[in-house]
Amino acid sequence: MDCARLWLGLLLPLAAALDFRYHHQAEMEAFLKAVAQNYSSITRLHSIGKSVRGRNLWVLVVGRFPKEHRVGIPEFKYVANMHGDETVGRELLLHLIDYLVTNDGKAPEITRLINSTRIHIMPSMNPDGFEAVKKPDCFYSNGRENNNYYDLNRNFPDAFESNNVSRQPETVAVMEWLKTETFVLSANLHGGALVASYPFDNGVPATGTLHSRSLTPDDDVFQYLAHTYASKNANMKKGDHCKNKMNFPNGITNGYSWYPLKGGMQDYNYIWAQCFEITLELSCCKYPPEEKLPFFWNFNKASLIEYIKQVHLGVKGQVFDQNGNPLPNAIVEVQDRKHICPYRTNKFGEYYLLLLPGSYIINVTVPGHSPHLTKVIIPGKSQNFSALKMDILLPFRGQLDSIPESNPSCPMTPLYSDLPSHSAATKPGLFLFLVTLFHLLFK
Ligand SMILES: *[C@@H]1O[C@H](CO)[C@@H](O)[C@H](O)[C@H]1NC(C)=O
Ligand SMILES: *[C@@H]1O[C@H](CO)[C@@H](O)[C@H](O)[C@H]1NC(C)=O
Ligand SMILES: *[C@@H]1O[C@H](CO)[C@@H](O)[C@H](O)[C@H]1NC(C)=O
Ligand SMILES: *[C@@H]1O[C@H](CO)[C@@H](O)[C@H](O)[C@H]1NC(C)=O
Ligand SMILES: *[C@@H]1O[C@H](CO)[C@@H](O)[C@H](O)[C@H]1NC(C)=O
Ligand SMILES: [Zn+2]
Repeated sequence: MDCARLWLGLLLPLAAALDFRYHHQAEMEAFLKAVAQNYSSITRLHSIGKSVRGRNLWVLVVGRFPKEHRVGIPEFKYVANMHGDETVGRELLLHLIDYLVTNDGKAPEITRLINSTRIHIMPSMNPDGFEAVKKPDCFYSNGRENNNYYDLNRNFPDAFESNNVSRQPETVAVMEWLKTETFVLSANLHGGALVASYPFDNGVPATGTLHSRSLTPDDDVFQYLAHTYASKNANMKKGDHCKNKMNFPNGITNGYSWYPLKGGMQDYNYIWAQCFEITLELSCCKYPPEEKLPFFWNFNKASLIEYIKQVHLGVKGQVFDQNGNPLPNAIVEVQDRKHICPYRTNKFGEYYLLLLPGSYIINVTVPGHSPHLTKVIIPGKSQNFSALKMDILLPFRGQLDSIPESNPSCPMTPLYSDLPSHSAATKPGLFLFLVTLFHLLFK
């Protein structure tokens, strides 16, 4: 018996710590597969599709029940590297995976997070772009786009104007993926600036564009979410860390105020997938030298964890009919926060609404019946890893087959100059023209 080796084995951490360098596709796959094997009870590895060049678009799921959705456990996601030359997020997500799985059962906070949340992590949405970068560069390089030269963050359907572009395989894969889960909260990791940017990225006068911004009816929640991330990142919260670039008070900005764009992923998530998504710009330099990676991990680790916890804001529950059957596809919306495509219950009759503490009226609508209104008071923020749980019993028997599967009130093509304006104090945006000029390449 080799005692020395036994001792060594006890002293070394169980998993070889992930190194701080860039992992190309083969190495990334090897790492993800090793994690999925070593931690099979809390992970699920799957590919949601292939890139133009046939590379897998990997997603690793972490959770106490990783294989499928459980009622009451919200679905969260992180997506990085959709611009192939913005590389920090890609490595941070690999480190996040390592951190989550190696701390399960050890760190109480991470254990509770894994117990209460299903976390989907996609380190690269544009693996072809990443591999195409010849020489790391702090500014734009050819790998930003996918292999067909499409910018994937301009490639989604747009709710505000026509975006008649050829939908790319990577985009289609994400759109299909969004249909398979009820994602509640998400962030999309980029580089080239240091800021947490929240929807909308595009807009119309009804959303505030005449004031150089475009706000959602959930603007309070979005500002809070962006602030949660930025406030735990010492450099981001400064707001002016990137030299000669934009100054963002508290390290957050409305996407449109920074500069408008169409076909972006965060607007698509919020409008079509009922998922609140923000865009995180994590490094002034898009593709920094790998010696800097430990520094980026240290500056983002707390933010990445804290942001996931926000999936437990607000209220959640199931909608039942008089006979106790859960009702899928019922519209569940909060009064004065009407979404362009109304948010609906999933196949388990569940709803999840991200809301800050306060008093709200929840409006449940089933065809053929008058709207059912319920008051809810969201208590002050707790660290309970659960939204307020409130099931809703409707005073009638739902006819499941009478509820349409698809979302007829949700436009599949451009829309809505006629969106009713929602209240939001006016704050003239500054220097929109200059901002647009200087920051065209960042998001
Ligand atoms: C998986 O387990 C093997 C065998 O213990 C170990 O060598 C490897 O480093 C582990 N990898 C990961 C990513 O956990
Ligand atoms: C997490 O879940 C496991 C398995 O269900 C349970 O044994 C454990 O007590 C939970 N831990 C925490 C911190 O909630
Ligand atoms: C979209 O583009 C295609 C090909 O460029 C064209 O045939 C089609 O008419 C366009 N559709 C709209 C609605 O502009
Ligand atoms: C409830 O929602 C329905 C549409 O789903 C709408 O027609 C109705 O005005 C809403 N009621 C209130 C009080 O918000
Ligand atoms: C915390 O959440 C659990 C459900 O996950 C609930 O049973 C419990 O009452 C909550 N505790 C507090 C203090 O809110
Ligand atoms: Zn980007």
